[in-house]
Amino acid sequence: MKPIQVGLLGIGTVGSGTFNVLQRNQEEIKRRAGRGIEITMVADLDVARAQSIVGPDVKVVNDARAVIANPEIDIVIELIGGYGIAKALVMEAIAAGKHVVTANKALLAVHGTEIFAAASAKGVMVAFEAAVAGGIPIIKALREGLTANSIQWIAGIINGTTNFILSEMRDKGLDFDVVLKEAQRLGYAEADPTFDIEGVDAAHKVTLMSAIAFGIPVQFDKAYVEGITKLGATDIKYAEQLGYRIKLLGITKRTAQGIELRVHPSLVPSKRLIANVEGAMNAVVVQGDAVGTTLYYGKGAGSEPTASAVIADLVDITRLHTADPLHRVPHLAFQPDKMSDLSVLPMSEVVTSYYLRLRVADEAGVLAKVTGLLANAGISIDAVLQREADEVGGEGSTQTDLIILTHDIREGAMNDVLAQMQALPSVLAPITRIRKEELN
Ligand code: HSE
Repeated sequence: MKPIQVGLLGIGTVGSGTFNVLQRNQEEIKRRAGRGIEITMVADLDVARAQSIVGPDVKVVNDARAVIANPEIDIVIELIGGYGIAKALVMEAIAAGKHVVTANKALLAVHGTEIFAAASAKGVMVAFEAAVAGGIPIIKALREGLTANSIQWIAGIINGTTNFILSEMRDKGLDFDVVLKEAQRLGYAEADPTFDIEGVDAAHKVTLMSAIAFGIPVQFDKAYVEGITKLGATDIKYAEQLGYRIKLLGITKRTAQGIELRVHPSLVPSKRLIANVEGAMNAVVVQGDAVGTTLYYGKGAGSEPTASAVIADLVDITRLHTADPLHRVPHLAFQPDKMSDLSVLPMSEVVTSYYLRLRVADEAGVLAKVTGLLANAGISIDAVLQREADEVGGEGSTQTDLIILTHDIREGAMNDVLAQMQALPSVLAPITRIRKEELN
């Protein structure tokens, strides 16, 4: 059978990885897919560089629309990124009857509903394994491997840049700004790292996982997003002393009230496997009612790891594209007419536990006042750590750090108590609050 013809939009790090792995493993991939898969056309603004990567046998153009217009092309891979031109091209490819493979989490998390509806109407597939956790086949696992389960929650380290920064902060006792500069120098963090360090990239990814896990529309606008920019080495050290590591987690959870969808730094017990995921690696824990807890670990970015996911999608489409569209695996795992309208909870309704660090005057009664406010609000304390003043502020210091771990409480109730604590004259600096996830 004639090989399936693929057009590639954008040949940067992931695009060149995809081309190289397809070439290198072409025979094995063909044995699996039942048919050859060939990138026969590439669009990139830098035509000369693109041609040098793919060689003389592949047509290279600088106009992505020429790829979409080519009737020989069956599948379009979009590796441009962002919401702008990438969205227009994906919609045009769908309208032209092409299947689409994309690594663009931002595009799908924000415009997924419109894109998947257009694809369903046209009977084409939009595949996005590479959009979440790079080479880890988490979309396949959630959509197919775990299909028997009622998924209860997912928690993931799904941004390698921030995990690298947090690992360095812990290992070297350095503050965020120092490590970020070093990460940029080493090429681990982008020149503009905003989406990574502010949690936006992780929120795009957890939004997609949430939709697939619970059969709800993609709703990035409802996600709570908090990055790692305000974390200090002090809190990482105190967390360690209490038996926890701090990780930026993407969390989505089914509750009786609705769906939790949130990204923020979290204390995780050091004994959990996910707490020991270091450097730029990714990991996702999924809790299903039948299977229990499963853990997926691997490289969340990089040329060939991400290519591995892109090519898995190409093989899926090659196997399925002649199948009746109604009998393919649905884009978001659930049949489009069976989506749930479970609401995403506002952050004030989320129930979790907390790490609090208060810089206080080292004088009689402070601990009692602080814990009294917690008791009045019905918030139970899990652990308390008070440092010696000398250790915190040097010899003769009159200030100290009070660290409190709480049991579960609704975030709105915690916000009220934090405001009361902050107003105490003995509390000398803004209170640090980090959420804590036991993941059990
Ligand atoms: N910038 C992402 C990360 C990889 O640091 O994990 C692409 O999503």
